[in-house]
Amino acid sequence: MKAAILTVSDRCARGEAEDHSGPALSQALEAQGIHVAARAVVPDEVGAIKRQLVRMSGELGVDLVFTTGGTGFGPRDVTPEATEAVIERRAPGIAEAIRAGSLPKTPTAMLSRGTAGLRGRTLIINLPGSPRGALECLEIVSPVLGHAVEMIAGEGHSTEAKRHGGARAPAE
Ligand code: MTE
Repeated sequence: MKAAILTVSDRCARGEAEDHSGPALSQALEAQGIHVAARAVVPDEVGAIKRQLVRMSGELGVDLVFTTGGTGFGPRDVTPEATEAVIERRAPGIAEAIRAGSLPKTPTAMLSRGTAGLRGRTLIINLPGSPRGALECLEIVSPVLGHAVEMIAGEGHSTEAKRHGGARAPAE
């Protein structure tokens, strides 16, 4: 599996703050065998975010794109809007799981407006901006990433689903 990481932060893009979340996510992904093919830092601008998401899912053709930052209520927080503008199919269960899994850790989890969805064969997932928050949320989705990528490739419910009982709706 190949991934790309997009850090969305005005201060990091201007060089006023160091990006800690991008490298932390990169390390965590590589540790679970997911190769990080690209990383980029953009300001909190819809156009800049969309351009990177299109490049990472198109030109670079990675399986997964993780954004970090810009999901809150701040006046400049527009990562979910930029993501929704480029995805073709929504994956609401991922954002629901991230918020539900984060709430026991911090009530501020409900302040993340992060979304997720598919653009072509790439799954894009918004994560919060703090390194701790980004890593906590990555941990929540990690168990399903392999199966998600298999399904996107049209490989259906293979070994992973069978291990979980392989329940399916009866054929009509
Ligand atoms: N989720 C987890 N698991 N851990 C966290 O520390 N931080 C929250 C929330 N989600 C956090 C979290 C906070 S404080 C905010 S404001 C929102 O994510 C949005 O963060 P962002 O604007 O940096 O994307």
